[in-house]
Order: sequence, then C-alpha cells, then structure tokens
Amino acid sequence: MDTMSFGYAEYDPAQIAHNETLFTLANGYLGLRGDFEETQGTYHKGTYINGFYDSEPILYGERAYGFAENHETILNLPDPKRIELEVGSLPFSMKSGVVNTSSRYLNYKTGILTRIVDWTSSQGDRVKITTERMVSFTDKHCALISYTVEAVDTDLLIRLTSFLDIGVRNRSSKDDPRVGSKFTSNPLVILNHSIENEALNFSARTRNSALNLYGSAVHTTSKGASQITPSEPDLALSYTFSLAKGECVTLNKYVAYTTEDDSAPFRARKCAQEGFASYAQEQEQFLSDFWSVARILIEGDEMTEQALQFNIFHLLQACGRDGTSSMAAKGLTGEGYEGHYFWDTEAYALPMFCYLKADIAKSLLDYRYRILDKARLRAKTMSLKGALFPWRTISGEECSAYYPAGTAQYHIDADILYAVEKYLAATGETAPPAYVEMAIESARMWLSLGCFIDGEFCINEVTGPDEYTACVNNNAYTNLMAQNNLAFAIALVESYQQQGKILPLVLEKDELSSWKQAQEAMRIPFDKGLGIYEQDDSFLKKAPWPFDTTPQDKHPLLLHFHPLVIYRHRVLKQPDLVLAQFFLSGLFTKAERRRNFSFYEPYTTGDSSLSYCIQSIMASDSFQSLKAWTYFKKTVRLDIDDIQGNSADGIHTASMAGSWMAVVYGFAGFRDWKGTFSFDPKLPTAWKALTFCLTLRNAVLKVELRPSEVTYTLMTGKEVALVHRNVSCSLKEGESRTFSLVPKLGGVLFDLDGVLCDTAHLHYKAWKQVSDENLLHFDREVNKGLLGVSREASLQVILDHNNVDWPHEKRTEVLKRKNDAYVASLDSITGEDLFPGVLGLLSELKSQGVKIGLASASKNARTVCEKLGILDRFDAIADITRVQKPKPEPDIFLAASEQIGVWYTDCVGVEDAKAGIEAIKRAGMQAVGIGSEGELPGSDVVLKSTEELTLDVLKRVVQKI
Ligand code: BG6
Ligand code: MG
Repeated sequence: MDTMSFGYAEYDPAQIAHNETLFTLANGYLGLRGDFEETQGTYHKGTYINGFYDSEPILYGERAYGFAENHETILNLPDPKRIELEVGSLPFSMKSGVVNTSSRYLNYKTGILTRIVDWTSSQGDRVKITTERMVSFTDKHCALISYTVEAVDTDLLIRLTSFLDIGVRNRSSKDDPRVGSKFTSNPLVILNHSIENEALNFSARTRNSALNLYGSAVHTTSKGASQITPSEPDLALSYTFSLAKGECVTLNKYVAYTTEDDSAPFRARKCAQEGFASYAQEQEQFLSDFWSVARILIEGDEMTEQALQFNIFHLLQACGRDGTSSMAAKGLTGEGYEGHYFWDTEAYALPMFCYLKADIAKSLLDYRYRILDKARLRAKTMSLKGALFPWRTISGEECSAYYPAGTAQYHIDADILYAVEKYLAATGETAPPAYVEMAIESARMWLSLGCFIDGEFCINEVTGPDEYTACVNNNAYTNLMAQNNLAFAIALVESYQQQGKILPLVLEKDELSSWKQAQEAMRIPFDKGLGIYEQDDSFLKKAPWPFDTTPQDKHPLLLHFHPLVIYRHRVLKQPDLVLAQFFLSGLFTKAERRRNFSFYEPYTTGDSSLSYCIQSIMASDSFQSLKAWTYFKKTVRLDIDDIQGNSADGIHTASMAGSWMAVVYGFAGFRDWKGTFSFDPKLPTAWKALTFCLTLRNAVLKVELRPSEVTYTLMTGKEVALVHRNVSCSLKEGESRTFSLVPKLGGVLFDLDGVLCDTAHLHYKAWKQVSDENLLHFDREVNKGLLGVSREASLQVILDHNNVDWPHEKRTEVLKRKNDAYVASLDSITGEDLFPGVLGLLSELKSQGVKIGLASASKNARTVCEKLGILDRFDAIADITRVQKPKPEPDIFLAASEQIGVWYTDCVGVEDAKAGIEAIKRAGMQAVGIGSEGELPGSDVVLKSTEELTLDVLKRVVQKI
C-alpha cells in the first residue's frame, strides 16, 4: 500500500460530496476543492482564497450593546477547475454513458491530484480521460490543470471547454448553524472579464469588505485544435480536436488568482511559460523537504500511516503562510464555519508546525499580531483593557453572533499566548517586540476582566473550551491558562527589563506587580472530597446529563436540545479541565491528571471533533493504553471515514492536527513543558514500530519507537537535550541513545500494615475500642472495608455502617482517640512483629540494587518502621499527608515511585487491601496482593503471605510473565 497517497480505484457516487473535500488541493492561500472538472455530477464546486471574504451586518432578532456587528464569510470564487468535455456531441459526465473504470489519487509527495476515467458515451464512443491538478506551494497564486483525452477505440471528434466559471456561489445555510452563508445578494461583483490570446481574465470586487480579486487562465494544447471558440458571457474557451484512434490530446490550463494586485494575467502567462513539469518539480522538492521531517512511519498499520500523512498534508495545505491569514477550521476545503479562524489554529495546529515547519507557526502568530489593533478595539467594546482576540473571525473583527459560545471564550487570549510561548521554546528564538506586545495586552485584558474576591483573583462569566457549559464563574481552564498567560507576560517583561531592552508598550507604575498578584491569587476551583479540579464554580452543582435515556439519534446534543437544557446539566462537548492538564502538564502530578481524566470522561460526549484526540492523549497519560487507542481510532480517520457525517462541508483541521498530537504527545509521550523536551513512550500494541521526527531548536531529532525500546537520534543540528522518562541526556549531531522499554524490576513499593507487619490487628483493636465507647457496631467484617483506607475514611465507613452522621468536631475528637489508642499500642511493637521473610526479602532487594519504597496510608508509618527497626531499609517513605488523595487513588504509589527514582512501569506494588490494589493499578503498576485470592480483585498475583514473596516472583510480575 502506498501510504503517501490517498485515493480510490473504483467510483462510488455516494461519496461524491465527501470526496470533494478529501481531494482538495491548496497551498495555504489558494484552495481548489476536489470537485470534478465537469459540472454535472458534482456536489459543490469550491474555490477559495484564505482570508478572502465578504461581510454583512448580522441580523439579530434582539440585539444588545457590544454584540458582534458583522458576519464574515469566505467566498466561493469563480471556478478555474471547470472543463467540460464533449465526445461526439455528448457531454461527458459520471452520470451518463458507462464509466468503465475510474480512479483518483492524491499524492502527498508530488502534491498532484490525478484522475483517470475510462468512459463510453451512450453512443458507444470510448475515451480515456486523465487529469492532473496541482496548486503550487512555491508560487502561491498559481494552480495548474492538465486534461488529457485519448480516443480509445475509434477516431473521435471531441470538444474541451475551459471556464473561469463566474457563475458559482457560496452554499446557503440550512438548519445546521455550522454550514452555509447568509448573504442577501451576490457578495462578489465581477467588474470585468475578457478573453484574449487563449487566456481568460476577470477582475472582481467584494461588495462590503472591498477586497479585489483578479483571475486569469492561460491555455496550451499538445496539438492544434481544429477550432477555438471563445464565449465571452461564460468566460470560456472551447477547443475542438479530431483524434485518430489511440491518439491523445492534452489541454494545459495555467491559473493565477491574485488579491494584492492585478498581476494575475502576468502570473498565469509566466506559469504557462515555465510549464507543468517545471512546477511539478518545484512542488516535489518543496514537499520532499517538508516530508523529510514530517513523515511518520508506522510498521504494522499502513491504514493509519496513510491517514496520518493525509492529515498532515491537509494541514500543510490549510495554513496561511504569509502572515496575513490563519487556518480556517475547515481549511480551504469547504465553507463550513464560514472560513473562520478559531483557537483551533493555536491550540491544535500550531504545536505540530512548531516541530515540523516552524516558519508556518510563526506566520500564524504574525497573523494574530496583525489583528492586534482590532483586538484592542474589541477589548474596549467589552469594557476591558488591553486586547481581546476574536473567538471567530477572518479580518480580526469578532464574528460570533452567539456570545455564550463566542466572545465569552476569553481563553482565546491565553491560547494564543500559550502558542507564542510554545513557539519560542520550540525554536529557541528570543521574543520579538511584537510578541511581547501581545503578551502585555493579553495580561491587561485578564487583569481588567477578573477581580479580587475574598483574596482570590476570580474571572467570572466566561465560557471555557467545553461549549456545553457557558457563562460560568471561574472556569478552571480559563483561570489556569490566564495564570500561565500572566506568568509568561511577566517573564517576557522582566527579561526585556533585565536586558535593558525597550518594551514595545509603556507599563504603568504598578502594572507588573498587579499581574503578579493576580497570577498568585488566581482562583482554581478544587473539590477536596473528590480530589478533582472543578470545571467551574457551578459544575458539581449541576445534575448529570441523562445519558441512559438519551437515544443515539439525539446526538450530537447541540442539534437536538436548546442550549439552556444542555447548560443546566453536567455534560461536556469536549475536554475542558483535562485539556488544561495536557497543556499545562507540569503543574499537575500524574495521579491528579489520571484522576481528573477519569472523573470527566463519563460526562464528555465528544460531540466536538476537538474532543477525541485530547481524550486519547490523556488516556495515554493516565496509563490507559486501550482507551487511548480507541479514542485515537476515532480521530485519525475522522474525515477519511466521515465519522462525524459532515466532512462534505470541509475537513476538521483541529482533529487532524489532534491526530498528530495523539501520536507524538500521546503514544510517544512527548512533552515540552517550559522548554524541556521529554518522552514517555507507550507504543500501541497494534504497532510494531513508530518513527517520526521533531525539529527542536533547529535540530532534527528522530524518534524510533519499538515495543521493546526507543531510540533517539539527532539527525541534524549541534546538540539537543532531552529527558527519556526520568533520565536526562543530551545528543550531539549523528548521536543516538537507545532505552529499553521492557519492564524490569527497579523498585518495590510496599504497603505497611498487613504486608510487612501485623499492625492491621492493632488498627482493628483501636477502632473496636472507640466504636464500643460510642455504641457503634464494629466487627472483623466491617474492618475489611477499613484496610488500606485513611483514618478519616475509615471512620466514615463505620458511621455509614451504623447509619449515623457526626459533626466535624465529634469526628475530630474520635479520630484523635482512635489514633491515641493505636499509637499507645505501638509501644509493644518490635522487630519480632515483622512478618516472616520480610527482612530477608528487603536484604535481597537491596543487594540486587532494587529500590525500596513505602507507600502506606498510615500517618504513623514512619514510627511503625522505626519500632520495627526497618526505617533505614527504605530508599524513600512517601508521606501520605503530602499527597492529594488516599488509596484507592494512585497518589501515594506514584509519589513513592518518584521518590525512589524508578519509573512506574518498573515498579511493583505490594498490598493486602482492596483499596491498595486498586491504587497500584490506577498508578499503572503491577500489583502483588497479600491475602486471599477473591478479596483482592485486580491483583496480578495473589500470595497467601509475604513469606511467599520472593525476588523471582517480583521480577516475573513486573515483566508480566
Ligand atoms: C493503613 C491501614 O495502612 O493506614 C488502615 O490499613 C489505616 O487501616 C490507615 O486506617 C491509616 O492509618 P493511620 O495510622 O494514619 O491512622
Ligand atoms: Mg495494608
């Protein structure tokens, strides 16, 4: 299978609309949708220029101050692809005559779309048609089409009519708010058109945005035409040829569209002079340079490899590269979302470009700087200081008519600045004044948007990434990202000041310190009980969405329920807090990230195409490989397989970029937190190998991942520093480092009570004593539920069992009494109380270089170890008071593994309690249960007592054999 091309060898009429999107060719500026040359049998002929739009006032039933004024819509331009063929006197179309064979391939290496059709007209005339289409990456104004017809069986008279079809229009909107334009009249006025010397020319201007467009198509033919007929009103040229049997004729069409000046005719002529072959060669060179870094190889899964290159290729086609445009949510493939730019660019696509082609990332950021003045105006309208970037726009003006899922997504500012930060860290460039200016203006926006309430900096009435929750107070994503935005602005300003550089804007006297105060006091809603960050102040007070009673055909929810119905429920369109934990990964422990991912997952519908890729990355991060794989499968072929059912309206660029992220950030576990490049690879079991490259500060790093090892090679560039898992290393040009990924026993993390010693019965006695004192029922059976469970939670178990509830003071008092009783009983403890075999095992582990950690839920663990005389046996004792959540959450085990410096995959946990086994498994480790088989579900091995625990058993457990 050729994974560097995509196409079909059999024609399926049902796929016409979908294929038009998939076969789009574009160069970031000019986009030609993949519709057929002929009109009949096409779904929607589309030709676009990135950022070329017209606007009209938004018609509101009810409007209020500050609502977005105008909508902007990318325009469908005169169609230069259109070429009609007549064979004999019959028009060629896929809907008439007989299609003998039909194939179509988009080649990512050449950037050429090839179509071959073998067709017999209803009169029995057979032709073979070969078309090649290219939109030049190296000459952004130009597109080239070659159209070849062969008379297969007989001599034939054929006619080729080539158009610059000025009759095309945008699609009009239906019920789906995501599709179609709302223009009241034709937005593009054709000013002039002419036909001269086999060239078609037009000039046009938009009604309201006053943008100019010039188009030209120059033709050449491989043999003389018996007749050439211009048709001025249609802006078309017809060529008649008589072909002998077996003879071919090629019509070449050289197209140029310009918006900055009227050079289109000149450019088209120049393109024709250079010819198809010369353009094709340049195109191939450009793409070869791109793929030398961008190529991803997957051994064992060609379908996915092909889909990934397809996605990467489409992203390359979608992104503006001249600093004046960005990336429309649908690229240049269709009119969905009106050609608007959203945060998709910075949050999803930009990371990929930072590491594959940084000049594109820079260009995308330059676009944001270009619209900074408009963002300043928008901030004013919104009674804010600084600059507020638009949620959706083309020109820079806010175009979202629905502010709850538009302007309220203030996080766009932080997303853009996060992207700036990433770009600088990835390339190692120092921040130019333009970026510092954006950072200052965004910091000012946050300061004026938020306010201090009870000592906390609160940002109220905002919408986070999850658009199923709107206009809430203190959306955690927004606040976390705003905090990061402020920290970044502070760092940039201070670095400029330290270097004596002049800041692009003058800061007021206390401005910097006020940013610091806000950043430090930022409110990040956190629920102690659940140990999770609340999506916002109200999230946990909402009823969960009734998924059980929502039929499948009522999804996606946004098309079947009023927004208010959705807003009043606990339901997510896409990851919100979980996204923050990906972007700001270094702020959270592994345990936290896993816990929050698991908490939010059941409420996350995935109704947004931006959802699954993030879910995949965070499932990988949460040691849930299978889940990561399942989500990945839903994202990587989202458009190819039309998973959302709307790819006909355009590709989903964010999801495509997300599929790259799911491979690099997900499976390869790449992180770039604050400029440190690290990897934590987890190859999907379906793959034999994964190879990809990243450009890190001008150096190209190749990562080759196999099930048993990973190799990092510095292909070009002086030196690069990276971290594999928890090992730092540095590579010089040409140097490689290979790390084994085969789990190898490196550390054992012991629970204490019931595993190393018999203190469990002392806990029991103490609980029994306080239970009796308080007339609560408590016995050995109830005690089973207390094993491994924290003191506070243990009391809750007893109270629940007795159906009583106590006030806080009472609980504190009884907890103290229980602990006093327990601690008193510890007096009697000595080394004699260690379980048989423990000392020997600990010695053996030490002699074999296996690290030993203690992961006990007991606050008395250190005292107990002291009494047992084994304190010095541990490389680390994790402190339960310093982790966020007790067992069954994984915190204590992950903390212990970090403290002994052994990667979690090389650690084994040993536990006697159900909650403990669960904690070990949630920590992504192998678990040895001490006790009886049936009572310790999830254990990888259960032993009756610690006496049976040997080095050999531990080794086998970690290797899963
Ligand atoms: C665990 C015990 O090790 O520690 C539990 O299995 C106990 O029964 C828990 O509740 C907390 O111990 P402590 O000493 O902090 O009360
Ligand atoms: Mg225990």
